[in-house]
Amino acid sequence: MENQYIIKGGTPLHGEVNISGAKNAALGILAAAIMTDETVVIDNLPNVRDINVLLDAIEGIGATVNRISPHAVEINGSTISSMTIDYDSIRKIRASYYLLGALLGKYRRAQVALPGGCDIGSRPIDQHLKGFRALGASVNIEYGMINTEADQLRGNHIFLDVVSVGATINIMLASCMAEGKTIIENAAKEPHIVDVANFLNSMGAEIKGAGTDKIRITGVQRLHTSEYSIIPDQIEAGTFMIAAAATKGDVLIKNVIPKHLEAISVKLIEIGATVEEFDDAVRVSASQRLRHSQIKTLPYPGFPTDMQPQIATLLALSEGTSTVTESIFENRFKYVDELTRMGASIKVEGNVAIIEGVEGFTGTTISAPDLRAGAALVVAGLVSEGYTTVDSIKYIERGYENFEDKLNALGASMEKIPVDDERAVQKFKLKVG
Ligand code: EPZ
Repeated sequence: MENQYIIKGGTPLHGEVNISGAKNAALGILAAAIMTDETVVIDNLPNVRDINVLLDAIEGIGATVNRISPHAVEINGSTISSMTIDYDSIRKIRASYYLLGALLGKYRRAQVALPGGCDIGSRPIDQHLKGFRALGASVNIEYGMINTEADQLRGNHIFLDVVSVGATINIMLASCMAEGKTIIENAAKEPHIVDVANFLNSMGAEIKGAGTDKIRITGVQRLHTSEYSIIPDQIEAGTFMIAAAATKGDVLIKNVIPKHLEAISVKLIEIGATVEEFDDAVRVSASQRLRHSQIKTLPYPGFPTDMQPQIATLLALSEGTSTVTESIFENRFKYVDELTRMGASIKVEGNVAIIEGVEGFTGTTISAPDLRAGAALVVAGLVSEGYTTVDSIKYIERGYENFEDKLNALGASMEKIPVDDERAVQKFKLKVG
């Protein structure tokens, strides 16, 4: 049964929220966990759909997956019996292609369906494959499958033509048990790259320089057991920061690494919000209408593309003309039409959104086009006059744990209800008044 959110906007968010583990770090870490035959324990796992789907794919190849709690899992890769990840898994979760690097690195062969484009654009994986080939693997694409195999993987000096999170992680996975040294130049520097490297190192890998653009990997013979806790989710935290500012609220966002949020904090301060940093928390508040700005998405430490729809939503309510340039993905402005239906004034020209700030939004029925845009539309609903329903929330549930509960605990009025359930709508309206 499909669900939707119904939101009554207009309440400033107040209070404290705890941020879950980082989805995009967890995806790499879960794939890495199959690379040892010993049992690995992973904690601070976000309980979101993408993670559960990847765990199914990992179980599907024969690994033993034991969910100790909603936020912890034990994985044992010694029972793996298949080297094949089919299109069904890849279609549900693109990141199951991390199993390509993990299986190739461990067993010297893998067969994984080639992912297609997705909701945010065409997403080639040529850099991943270039990396595998540089390590000495053969890579052939036939009947929609990537077949990769190597008698021996040998370290190499690899220059990425584009900064890619996925390619950097996949090459780390494939090379950490290769013969000799691998160097990845022009590597991605996102916090989740560092977390995957730290996890692999905790299993005995020798990876240095993660978090810089030059990662050096010395191959080891084998990896061993580890107990590891995933870092907090930078994008979930950033989304709550924007929600606090957009609703003119005051929220303490806990269990974060403030350093990872700097690009977002700096922008919020620039447009007039207050951001206070603590050791493992940030407090965001705003009391008046914010100002316009210019934003361009860039690889870390630049402004994250995964925060682009959320900040654009905030700027759509801020005073003056703002521009938001999307430089990572080609199709990440699909939410603009929905925001326009709520009263925003945004024109997209190529990869630039030109935003004329409006005083407020009004609620209507909108549809989440993808994960982050979906979250941005929820934020828009929280500040709109009247009721907003957001459809296709399955996208939002891919990456936000208990989104509605966390927002309601901050004073929002929203509920998850079945699509087309008029009675549930009426009940909600009666409840919130
Ligand atoms: C990761 O995607 C994230 N996903 C995305 O998060 C995020 O938007 C993106 O990084 C950018 O930060 C995961 O970590 C699972 P890329 P990824 O490879 O690895 C081009 C979310 O909302 N490219 O860094 O696929 C590519 O087309 C999601 O949580 C190539 O040309 O991103 C893009 O323009 C969505 N060839 C750019 O590089 C390649 O071989 C960056 O992509 C690989 C990428």
